[in-house]
Amino acid sequence: MAKDIVLVTGGAGYIGSVLVKKLLEKGEKVRVVDKLYFGDSALADIRGKIELKAGDVRQFDPDLLDGVKCVMHLGSLSNDPTAEFDPKANKEINFEGTMRVAEACKRKGVKKFTFASSCAIYGFHVDDIADEDHSTNPQSEYSQSKLDAENGLRSLVSAAFCPVMLRQATVFGFSNRMRWDLVANTMTKDAFASDRIHVYCAGDNWRPLVDVNDVAEAHIAMMQAPDDKVKGQVFNLVHKNYRILELGHWIAEIIKPKQKIEVNVLFGSKESRSYRVAGDKISQVTGFEPKVTVEDAVRSIWQVLHSGRYTDFTNPIYYNIEWMKLLVDMEQKLKLIGKVF
Ligand SMILES: NC(=O)c1ccc[n+]([C@@H]2O[C@H](COP(=O)([O-])OP(=O)(O)OC[C@H]3O[C@@H](n4cnc5c(N)ncnc54)[C@H](O)[C@@H]3O)[C@@H](O)[C@H]2O)c1
Repeated sequence: MAKDIVLVTGGAGYIGSVLVKKLLEKGEKVRVVDKLYFGDSALADIRGKIELKAGDVRQFDPDLLDGVKCVMHLGSLSNDPTAEFDPKANKEINFEGTMRVAEACKRKGVKKFTFASSCAIYGFHVDDIADEDHSTNPQSEYSQSKLDAENGLRSLVSAAFCPVMLRQATVFGFSNRMRWDLVANTMTKDAFASDRIHVYCAGDNWRPLVDVNDVAEAHIAMMQAPDDKVKGQVFNLVHKNYRILELGHWIAEIIKPKQKIEVNVLFGSKESRSYRVAGDKISQVTGFEPKVTVEDAVRSIWQVLHSGRYTDFTNPIYYNIEWMKLLVDMEQKLKLIGKVF
């Protein structure tokens, strides 16, 4: 059987839906496996061009790898609050689910495996800029599960299995499965909805950022990179490091000619995460470099906002933790009432 399919776990998500579209544009055949926590509407315009399988990586069926040449593994609980909400599910999905998919790949001869890890693994340190050799300091169940998965994947490296770990910075930019809970997206949305950008904890914490299109392109670049250059390697994926206060003012400046924006700085408890990362390794080793600036992304989000596509910013589906809480609540209620009608 020809192996010509790219399987994307989490392909209906914020990053995954952008990635799937790009893969199609590059002429790839795509299979998506996703639990569809947020539905499948992000894939609506390409629905007829992909194979979409509703499924959970915790029960990943190895037959899904038939005809697959590369797995891009993005399916997971995707932030700290969701992981804290259900640490057991977080460990089962983010660590054990990753290992289940990876072990199936190794058994079935699917060599290339790209993994959506996170710069959150670096946790808290402010005196230096972390390259991939820097010590890690996970501050949450989420980042610990990503680190455990990276280590697990590294232990599987062999002539037949080539995992590549992308430590993605906090992502920004527009996706059909929009997340308004990511810092640059939140600030842009708040500026639009209330003429005000809120900066919490005085905004003196550092955060590395990268655009969603660059993240998608990076997974594709890792698929295309020679195995001997990337096998078992960890790469930071960052466009630029920002202090959150600086980011707030910068986004206000981008928008200012169109709308006057107040930057509202709130003081109080310290952020537990603050880190800067170096992104040189990926370009030195593979030639790939993130290109999209916050300015580009804010401008395109701004256009979408003005198109009237989004009016209800309070809808929990845009905020991962709010949505997961709602789903659990509904699950409990449905147990009591059975079918709704
Ligand atoms: N967005 C960011 O800033 C960021 C930063 C670093 C790393 N990451 C990682 O990138 C990946 C994608 O993040 P995103 O922002 O697109 O998040 P997202 O929540 O929008 O998408 C995650 C997708 O995975 C699916 N999923 C969750 N659990 C699953 C399971 N058990 N089985 C199958 N599918 C499952 C969800 O239904 C969803 O479609 C995640 O692994 C996340 O941890 C994201």
